[in-house]
Amino acid sequence: MGSDRKMITLALSKGRIFEETLPLLRAAGIEVLEDPDKSRKLILPTSQNDVRVLVVRATDVPTYVQYGGADLGITGKDTLLEHGSQGLYQPLDLRIAKCRISVAVRTDFDYVSAVRQGSRLTVATKYVAIARDFFAAKGVHVDLIKLYGSMELAPLVGLADAIVDLVSTGNTLKANHLVEVEHIMDISSRLVVNQAALKLKQAPIRRIIEAFASAVGQES
Ligand code: PRP
Repeated sequence: MGSDRKMITLALSKGRIFEETLPLLRAAGIEVLEDPDKSRKLILPTSQNDVRVLVVRATDVPTYVQYGGADLGITGKDTLLEHGSQGLYQPLDLRIAKCRISVAVRTDFDYVSAVRQGSRLTVATKYVAIARDFFAAKGVHVDLIKLYGSMELAPLVGLADAIVDLVSTGNTLKANHLVEVEHIMDISSRLVVNQAALKLKQAPIRRIIEAFASAVGQES
């Protein structure tokens, strides 16, 4: 479990979540002292000696927090749904890194008819659990193909009829001649907290939760 009893460790992934978390950290009086895009360091110091940031893969954030490798983490609802959120306290929807999970197909694929006719669809996705639940609720039979990235390629090369993926601006779909045909759910990032850490380091963790809550205009 965590090294220092007083140290507060926050797990973040690089990219959009990291960028959009910086203003929230600032609201809590915490300045990250190194840029993860320039530094190779995986543990970043902050302006507060007893707060540090771990740079981890987005899909690993819940694991670090569950096992106490980090006290807190910020992760997308998509990751929590796929990974499971057992043992994680989720006090806040931070409303950052907003996007949606959608079903998309080639512009020349007649999705509505395929579904109406009860065809079996092949669906490529990184979000196997979300896709399975969504199509099961609709009563559509699907064969799921697990991919780890560049899902947009699958319908273009005949690997799948459809994909289930994150959509933000829609530019990636457009650039690959794909079109959204179902909006599965809206996604944003959540603050997750290790339950044992919350008990052991109650005051500093509560301070961070409250600062984040007021920065995003929510009650904690
Ligand atoms: C996500 C997603 C799409 C893209 C959508 O990928 O998988 O490819 O963003 O964004 P847009 O609608 O604004 O074009 P991301 O860059 O997060 O990387 P990933 O492929 O590792 O998921």
